[in-house]
Amino acid sequence: MDTQTILEKEKQFLWPVHIHYYQQPLPLAHGDGMYLYDVEGNRYLDFFGGILTVSVGHCHPKVTEAIQQQVRTLVHTSTLYPHENHVKLAEKLAEITPGRLQKSYFWNSGTEANEAAVLLAREATGCQDVIALRHGYSGRSALATTLTAQSTWRVGGAQVLGIHHALNPYCYRCPLKSSYPQCGVACAEDVEQVIRTVTTGRIAAFLAEPIQGVGGFITPPPEYFGIVVETVRKYGGLFICDEVQTGFGRTGKFWFGIQHWGVEPDIMTMAKGIANGTPLGATIAIPEVADKLKGLMISTFGGNPVSCAAALATIAVMEEENLPQHVEQMGTILRHGLENIKEKYSVIGDVRGKGLMQGIEMVRDRQTKEPAVREIAHLFEATRQRGLLIGKGGLYGNVVRITPPLVVSQHEIEYALEILDHAFAEVQETL
Ligand SMILES: Cc1ncc(COP(=O)(O)O)c(C=O)c1O
Repeated sequence: MDTQTILEKEKQFLWPVHIHYYQQPLPLAHGDGMYLYDVEGNRYLDFFGGILTVSVGHCHPKVTEAIQQQVRTLVHTSTLYPHENHVKLAEKLAEITPGRLQKSYFWNSGTEANEAAVLLAREATGCQDVIALRHGYSGRSALATTLTAQSTWRVGGAQVLGIHHALNPYCYRCPLKSSYPQCGVACAEDVEQVIRTVTTGRIAAFLAEPIQGVGGFITPPPEYFGIVVETVRKYGGLFICDEVQTGFGRTGKFWFGIQHWGVEPDIMTMAKGIANGTPLGATIAIPEVADKLKGLMISTFGGNPVSCAAALATIAVMEEENLPQHVEQMGTILRHGLENIKEKYSVIGDVRGKGLMQGIEMVRDRQTKEPAVREIAHLFEATRQRGLLIGKGGLYGNVVRITPPLVVSQHEIEYALEILDHAFAEVQETL
């Protein structure tokens, strides 16, 4: 089908709330490594990685081979029957996750992984109250939309009781109008204020992303999680770390984002990068917490043999190619290049993130920090025309998200930086 036919059929048969990037949406046909091809045969360097999902490149031959082999053997079991891939993957996650995280349950998405994490924390502690952070994103179920704290993603009205939001460590737009490090990370104290004022004084959990992804790559200062997690434990709560975006080497050096803050979660959720694009979510917990959940639990598709095979192959490639270290090196080059671009264009207010998870907050004026909404739309068209795909996020939709597959080379980063430089120059002229 050509572009026109796909877009017409989409209008006719799909819900109009399907959001797409670009004035003229971009129907894709195939992918290969760092590249995506549209249905007209145009090639794009992919610097969004299927929303931080395609960890080892599109259609990686080893992942494809593992999927094909499993599809020929057994496609479906449900969680009613044990399967070799299922236990192998759980064992591998216990090995690569920090601290004492050990026992997993598998699902199909990050939303379900977060649902299960909150359920587990509530059952394990006997408390209902959960603290999440403003600007966070947790998924699309009723509970996950309630945990989410961005008005744009709360369509339908949030309705799950017992969820409360604390201030987030958004240094560029500090909610306390202070600045780091003079602030003494005062925002971290808000978690205690919330616990003491709007809960019974005992909580089930604190749930947070190490770097807020959809929120626009908001990166907490080094002390943040140490302070908050100590508070959370003081009030009987568990720390649920949402690694859906930050997991599997994305932030460089480590397997998981939270390791940069030296804090050990009690429960961790994952999805996206775990299986290179095959649907899979996981909730892993320390044994004494996992063991507290009683009653019936099932997932028809959760942890199916094909997705688990894809995850095992993806993690094997990451280990063979030492990707967390590679990401650290490539991330340093990318960050350096972005900082240089920031020097040239006032439309860039902030560059932040870790590893291959770099955000560029665009503003119309560096003093007022007015979000550059029209300008980011322009940047998207300008980069697409030059053959580069990027992502965006942030409460105001003004943060560029740069997240190539983790196998990206220095040459590809330099090429992407060149395109970004030209595209920003074009946008800057319109200010
Ligand atoms: C941090 C985080 N948690 C949870 C989710 C929900 O994952 P899914 O879309 O797989 O349900 C997302 C999705 O973007 C996410 O970024």
